[in-house]
Amino acid sequence: MDASAAKPSIKTIQQHILERQRAHPNATGEFSFLLSAITLATKIIADYVRRAGLVDILGTTGGINVHGEVVQKLDVIANETIAGCLGYRDNVGIIVSEEDDEPRILKELDSRAQYIVLFDPLDGSSNIDVNVSIGTIFSILQRREGVDAGRVMDHILQPGFRQVAAGYVIYSSSTVMTYTTGDGVHMFVLDPSIGAFRLTRENIKIPKAGKTYSINEAYRNQFPKGIQDYLDWVKLDEAGGYALRYIGSLVADFHRTMIQGGVFLYPPTKKAPEGKLRLLYEANPLAFLVEQAGGAATDGRERILDKVPTALHERTPLIIGSRDEVDRVLSYWSR
Ligand code: AHG
Ligand code: MN
Ligand code: MN
Repeated sequence: MDASAAKPSIKTIQQHILERQRAHPNATGEFSFLLSAITLATKIIADYVRRAGLVDILGTTGGINVHGEVVQKLDVIANETIAGCLGYRDNVGIIVSEEDDEPRILKELDSRAQYIVLFDPLDGSSNIDVNVSIGTIFSILQRREGVDAGRVMDHILQPGFRQVAAGYVIYSSSTVMTYTTGDGVHMFVLDPSIGAFRLTRENIKIPKAGKTYSINEAYRNQFPKGIQDYLDWVKLDEAGGYALRYIGSLVADFHRTMIQGGVFLYPPTKKAPEGKLRLLYEANPLAFLVEQAGGAATDGRERILDKVPTALHERTPLIIGSRDEVDRVLSYWSR
């Protein structure tokens, strides 16, 4: 994607969605109503992030979440902000958060409360205190027709290809929102002077190849042999000069990969045999985005979007990015 293509238009994300909605005769405006709750929440979170260090939101709460990870204050603030904003949308029945052990049933699923929103409220928590890019990742499902509203997990544990929308917000030098509803990938930058996300790139396509690989090489000895072989190859002259970039915030490493091309890898390790990243609200939404942009996302055995989830917080290995680069990793390693 040509960086010079980034020119902020006066088209806001709300206008963009309404415009695309008109193109879909059966669109009811429900989705734009729902997305406005997410954009509002991320504007509030962006404001907290910008003031981190000035107000008491750095550091940990002292708590441990369902994943056994230390909970940062900003994890909780982001989680409650998103849950609160979605709570005011009567078309959202269930929310699933990385920070909540169980789903929150806001309303019983019915023809009105048809949406399920799954999110990682704050991705890259380990980077909060050192002022490195962090983000929010979201995925939107619709309830399953003909399935009893009470069978909550049956409505939640749907494969990623059933997502109706997905996106992320990255809180960095600027606040960037990228989303898809299955009709291309579109990027917006928050204009703080007017409090609106303005369209900067439409129908983004990830470069078909890219000589950047992104992985935590500290775990090299724990990775499967095929991954170790790939890591040996990228360093050879014949590979043509790869660069390693690893920020440690999935959303930032993914954003760079979408713009510059390359591949992000979080393979299985001895400590995390199913990988560290979570399927429902990290891998699935980013896989939807990358495929819409012409890239690929796999767990080493199957397409991420085809995986049928069996548990709310299940983890998955993730190889995601430019199609040629993902294929090259798979030529060294498949499960
Ligand atoms: P989260 O902060 O939501 O728990 O996510 C952290 C994830 C992801 O953002 C990143 O790619 C990965 O953890 C980094 O893991 P390592 O520190 O093991 O490399
Ligand atoms: Mn995360
Ligand atoms: Mn998180």
